[in-house]
Amino acid sequence: MGKALVIGSNGQIGTDLVEKLRSLKGDENVIASDIYQPAKEDPFFILLDATDREAVEKAIKAQNIDEVYLMAAILSAKAEQMPNKAWDINMQVLFNILELGKQGLIKKIFWPSSIAVFGPNTPRINTPQYTIMDPNTVYGISKLAGERWIEYYNEHYNMDVRSVRYPGIISWKTLPGGGTTDYAVEIFHEALKNKKYTSFLSKNTRLPMMYMPDAIDATINIMSIPKENLRIKHSYNIAGISFTPEELADAIKKRIPDFEIDYKPDFRQAIADSWPESIDDDMAFKDWHWHHKYDLDAMVDDMLKNLSKKYNKEESLPL
Ligand code: SER
Repeated sequence: MGKALVIGSNGQIGTDLVEKLRSLKGDENVIASDIYQPAKEDPFFILLDATDREAVEKAIKAQNIDEVYLMAAILSAKAEQMPNKAWDINMQVLFNILELGKQGLIKKIFWPSSIAVFGPNTPRINTPQYTIMDPNTVYGISKLAGERWIEYYNEHYNMDVRSVRYPGIISWKTLPGGGTTDYAVEIFHEALKNKKYTSFLSKNTRLPMMYMPDAIDATINIMSIPKENLRIKHSYNIAGISFTPEELADAIKKRIPDFEIDYKPDFRQAIADSWPESIDDDMAFKDWHWHHKYDLDAMVDDMLKNLSKKYNKEESLPL
């Protein structure tokens, strides 16, 4: 197993991914990197701006890196506030890694795509792997362009770039930042702190979601499978759980009976309305036996258990 570099290690997925990779490869074989120092001290962390190709090249050479997990990106809602900058960042970090791979400096690359590659004319229920793709967000456009480019590099330069289209990811260790699916994480924090949440998506907005342990499993699995098994050279659909804000609130209410929710949709509603409700991941199942484990109840139980512990611990800290 090669030495890995995780770019964007302070982020929502990066945090959990570093932990899992270190449990598999050993701490010293997983270098974490981000543009900010991490909250906890980490001897295997380096400060790295992934838009700076020279700096990335230096780090990869100095650390003898074999695999890169490129988890840094500007997510959908934030990207709509700064379209040009988001496009530049999302594409620049990808091309930096692809070019270093082309030079033979990286053996294997993981780059996440998203359900945001789909658009208003995509069939919304059980969205197939191959279908109409007309994303109308900057983030979605950058992910679809990225998918086309990784396929191009895989085919023309004999590279090994792997990818899944993550749904909205729910987790407790780190908050997501700037996404349209973030409500499904914020709601848990607010339920525990204030017993009240105002959703920025309407109550019937059904979106594809996934609990973090499943997202990490998908990432590790696709990176472990023999390259020949992967028929798709761009990015695999993966499915988890689909639910609406109202259904999630009901599941929380079953556990916290005085929890209340109201709805004030904002600009993120239009983004959510352009995305699928559910995903068909048959090709991921066929090619690398992918199947998610967590359903809505298992996810809600685990989120509340872990976040309650976190908040109780924080509350008991001396002020
Ligand atoms: N969770 C992401 C977002 O909302 C989708 O990939 O932007």
